[in-house]
Amino acid sequence: MDKSEWIWMNGEFVAWDDAQVHVLSHGLHYGTGVFEGIRCYETEKGPAVFRHREHLERLKTSARLYYLPLEHSTDELREATHELIRRNELHSCYIRPLAFRGYGEMGLFAKDAPVEVTIAVWPWGAYLGDEGKQNGIRAKVSSWRRVSPAGLIPGAKASGQYLNSILAKTESHNAGYDEAILLDEAGHVCEGSGENIFIVRDGQLITPPYTASILDGISRRSIIQIARDLGYTVVEREVARAELYVADEMFLCGTAAELVPVREIDDHDLGGPGEITKVVQAKFEDALHGRAQEYAKWLDVVDVPSKVASES
Ligand SMILES: Cc1ncc(COP(=O)(O)O)c(C=O)c1O
Repeated sequence: MDKSEWIWMNGEFVAWDDAQVHVLSHGLHYGTGVFEGIRCYETEKGPAVFRHREHLERLKTSARLYYLPLEHSTDELREATHELIRRNELHSCYIRPLAFRGYGEMGLFAKDAPVEVTIAVWPWGAYLGDEGKQNGIRAKVSSWRRVSPAGLIPGAKASGQYLNSILAKTESHNAGYDEAILLDEAGHVCEGSGENIFIVRDGQLITPPYTASILDGISRRSIIQIARDLGYTVVEREVARAELYVADEMFLCGTAAELVPVREIDDHDLGGPGEITKVVQAKFEDALHGRAQEYAKWLDVVDVPSKVASES
């Protein structure tokens, strides 16, 4: 990966290579951590973090759900992230805040293991590739089912839960596909291994609801808003597996992947990226990059001269 110079660790800025933990850190053994994936984009006003506060609030919610007390307020984490971007002199980057049980106590009820909080930032391109964003990807319904609310908390972004995504992603990769789509135990569609899903049928956008064992994706929420503002009907409802095969269009969305059309699902050819997908994708990209005035409120501008500004 592309190293930066500094990482924020429990209130201090430490050199990238010195941001280390003990091998007996609780989170390494039991997955007791929660994290976020956030992106900062280069805009005319400077580096801008997309829906920063919403991501940090989701981090807090995930932490609360897994009994991890966070000492740092949302404002502190936001300010630390801004300072980290400044110190690393980045204009655009991926941002990874993580809170996890550290070293100090083992066993499952380790309330005395300290909760450590770190933030790292580094340059990271589109997760499913620029080519995928442009021309669409090939996806496969996974044989692994999405974690169930009967055993875990699908709406929380918790480290241990990602073993489920990793099984699905690895299976799809080994079978020659770009991404996995997970169903719930009843066979309804949930989401991709790291993205939410939308289909288009008869001009309407359809996406599984929050109660469908999905992560409450911030890109998903943004796209619902954008699509409605563009005049499309967006329906949140259960989606049957077979509906994927007869969809007019399909796309995935997430912070790392951004909006990615799906051109093939389980060897059913959906054609290239659909018309509605392309319209929504273009507006979403404008929102991310600060080119859509109506969504400027979603951008948390970092107070440094931007490359665009300094070069002009
Ligand atoms: C399992 C899963 N679903 C959905 C998403 C999309 O969420 P967001 O748009 O908030 O990045 C992600 C990415 O974080 C994810 O890991």
